[in-house]
Amino acid sequence: MDIKVLPLPEESKKSKFTDESKLGFGKIFTDRMFIAEWKVNQGWVDARVQPYGPFSLDPAALVFHYAQEIFEGLKAYKWQDGSIALFRPEMNARRFNISADRLCMPEVPEELFLEGVKQLVSLERDWIPSAEGTSLYIRPTMMAVEPVLGVKPSDHYYFYVILSPVGAYYASGFNPIKIMVEDSYVRAVPGGTGEAKTGGNYASSLKAGLEAKKKGYDQVLWLDGVNKRYIEEVGAMNMFFAYADKVVTAPLAGSILNGITRDSVLKLSDKLGFSVEERPIDVNELMADIRSGKIKEAFGSGTAAVITPVGSLCYKNESVDVGNGGVGSLTQRLYDTLTGIQYGKIADPFGWIQKL
Ligand code: PLP
Ligand code: COI
Repeated sequence: MDIKVLPLPEESKKSKFTDESKLGFGKIFTDRMFIAEWKVNQGWVDARVQPYGPFSLDPAALVFHYAQEIFEGLKAYKWQDGSIALFRPEMNARRFNISADRLCMPEVPEELFLEGVKQLVSLERDWIPSAEGTSLYIRPTMMAVEPVLGVKPSDHYYFYVILSPVGAYYASGFNPIKIMVEDSYVRAVPGGTGEAKTGGNYASSLKAGLEAKKKGYDQVLWLDGVNKRYIEEVGAMNMFFAYADKVVTAPLAGSILNGITRDSVLKLSDKLGFSVEERPIDVNELMADIRSGKIKEAFGSGTAAVITPVGSLCYKNESVDVGNGGVGSLTQRLYDTLTGIQYGKIADPFGWIQKL
């Protein structure tokens, strides 16, 4: 499908950030956005890049009432030679359509997803920061805009992409965070929407997150919704635990997100000589293995979170340091290797990088 590029009037141009160390995460947005619309009996129409700006939506639009919405997250990296790289964007396109299917939304052809992202990033290349640890966060989104109050799949959708120059997701940067295992609220159940990247999963996690913050923890680690016994994931990242010679993570059983960084970490760990296990992890066994020192490191993985070291875990009011509570050596090596590939500092043996 042809993508039109609408003019960017002088008055729509924003002034750019000057201090890349103060970007934070997702607070500023670039000059342009991509949008395409899906209408029943017409399919995808009117793909265009236009100036970034608010939508005018009917207050009855389905997304506001019944949360028919999905999103993705990926990043563009500026390399030292000034070229631009995307990391496994085809995986985001595929996962977007898995979420779309779960939410009864139309499939976005992978070419439309990828072309929309690439054209927009290319036009906005001057917005990509280059300081260590910074990148351009890409947020593809689809929402239901038909104005009707009956509960049903919409007959009109917007698929749009916005861009945000970002630094680290956690204010602490690449430093260990403190996690509380959540034993009261649950995030997802088998057959639910846990595997989909849909706004409702995040809205329903806010209460547990706030209560954990009040107790001094950065994030909650969810347990399975049926037995409250097996480790699932953290709000914005998958979790890994490293023993002396193996890394262990929860299996993809439908209730956690199939993280693209998770998949990359599994492949990198194998390359670094660790065996990898995807299996149910009993929280009691986990805490015992941390206490006894068998588990040496814990870390999370995600596009926004990259590799985030976890220094301590609290379960039922008992807080235990993982290893010495600092950044473990595998965590550091995985961070260095993953970001090395993303920023073009080391070779990419996997074919993960797509240059613009
Ligand atoms: N789990 C959840 C709930 C997330 O929101 C994310 C972020 O995208 C992840 C895991 C990590 O997924 P990915 O590595 O694809 O970014
Ligand atoms: C991402 O890492 O891309 C995410 O979508 C996490 C988000 C909650 C910031």
